[in-house]
Amino acid sequence: MQSYIMPRAVLVTGGAGYVGSHTVITLLERQSDGDPLEIVVVDNLSNGYCAEGEKKPEALKRIEELTGKTVHFYKVDIRCAEALDRIFENHNIDCVIHFAALKAVGESVEKPLEYYQVNINGTCTLFEIMRKHGVYKLVYSSSCTVYGEPEYLPINESHPTGKSLTSPYGKSKYFCEEIMKDLCVSDKKWAIISLRYFNPVGAHESGRIGEDPSGIPNNLMPYISQVAVGRLKELKVFGDDYPTADGTGVRDYIHVCDLAAGHVQAIKLFHQPGFNGFHAINLGTGTGYSVLEMVAAFSNASGRAVPHAVAPRRAGDVTANVADVALATRSLGWRATRSLHDMCRDTWRWQEANPNGYHRI
Ligand SMILES: NC(=O)c1ccc[n+]([C@@H]2O[C@H](COP(=O)([O-])OP(=O)(O)OC[C@H]3O[C@@H](n4cnc5c(N)ncnc54)[C@H](O)[C@@H]3O)[C@@H](O)[C@H]2O)c1
Repeated sequence: MQSYIMPRAVLVTGGAGYVGSHTVITLLERQSDGDPLEIVVVDNLSNGYCAEGEKKPEALKRIEELTGKTVHFYKVDIRCAEALDRIFENHNIDCVIHFAALKAVGESVEKPLEYYQVNINGTCTLFEIMRKHGVYKLVYSSSCTVYGEPEYLPINESHPTGKSLTSPYGKSKYFCEEIMKDLCVSDKKWAIISLRYFNPVGAHESGRIGEDPSGIPNNLMPYISQVAVGRLKELKVFGDDYPTADGTGVRDYIHVCDLAAGHVQAIKLFHQPGFNGFHAINLGTGTGYSVLEMVAAFSNASGRAVPHAVAPRRAGDVTANVADVALATRSLGWRATRSLHDMCRDTWRWQEANPNGYHRI
């Protein structure tokens, strides 16, 4: 078996958020005793919850309870170079997992400047500070949105990117990938893995960590679960006239813990001798499910009805989106193992136990 040395400290930007918190707990769960790995989270909590008077966001407090391990936390905006600089001085960071971003597609159309500020300027500030401290290993949270309207399915990493992008959010992810490619051309020390997520859903199996969207959810799964728990009245199914088997949009949903495991595998690549350059890798399951299939699976897993009604198509939504995951299997030695039922069951366990997310009202 290949030996593997954990990095000294991993900086996780946006680690109080949905995918970030699941990655932090997965890193800690897979850490063997005596392993000196430190996890350092930077998050401005623009989309994370911290109870008044508490120093750590609720998600990280729960992770510490579940694992018995410590997570260093800094309430810092990634656009603040001075604050990032101090963190790199205080910790022996040798690798960064960069989740921090604004991510609501619809909101990005209304607030393009805010999205470009955080997602692009914030990312460039982070890169400058990494370079200043000689840290060149990065895992980046990209998205299948960089592919735009798919030209073929399943989508592999050679599929063109940057075409038919409709939102500033999608463009920001694409622009960041282009910036990272340029960085890798400019200096061979950079080693960057851009993980193109398909549709993360589900929650940690403990039911203590999960997705906690503020306001009305944009994504299907949290919407369905909030309808099932009675927080929202009815699910709107955006379009039933797509050229799919039942007319509703098809997506490749992936359990967030499988996604998190993909990040742990990605970090291991940094220890391969000579590993450098820019690498884009899809993280999905390779199987697509329609909106109506998701509703049925969720009802089945939760034992609750999910009232739904058809609404007009939503601008910018693609018909179908399914990942080719051969590269992830080959290069990361990774594949998603959790089923659609697991995704629904774990989402429901989290939602039922935390009807108001992390807010204990
Ligand atoms: N969830 C998805 O469906 C999905 C799909 C594809 C890609 N992604 C990408 O994955 C990453 C994580 O997404 P998520 O679903 O966990 O979102 P999230 O909103 O739950 O987490 C993002 C975290 O970043 C923090 N943050 C935002 N702006 C910041 C700033 N300026 N400085 C410091 N922290 C800041 C937020 O407070 C939040 O805790 C994002 O980059 C997102 O674009 C998510």
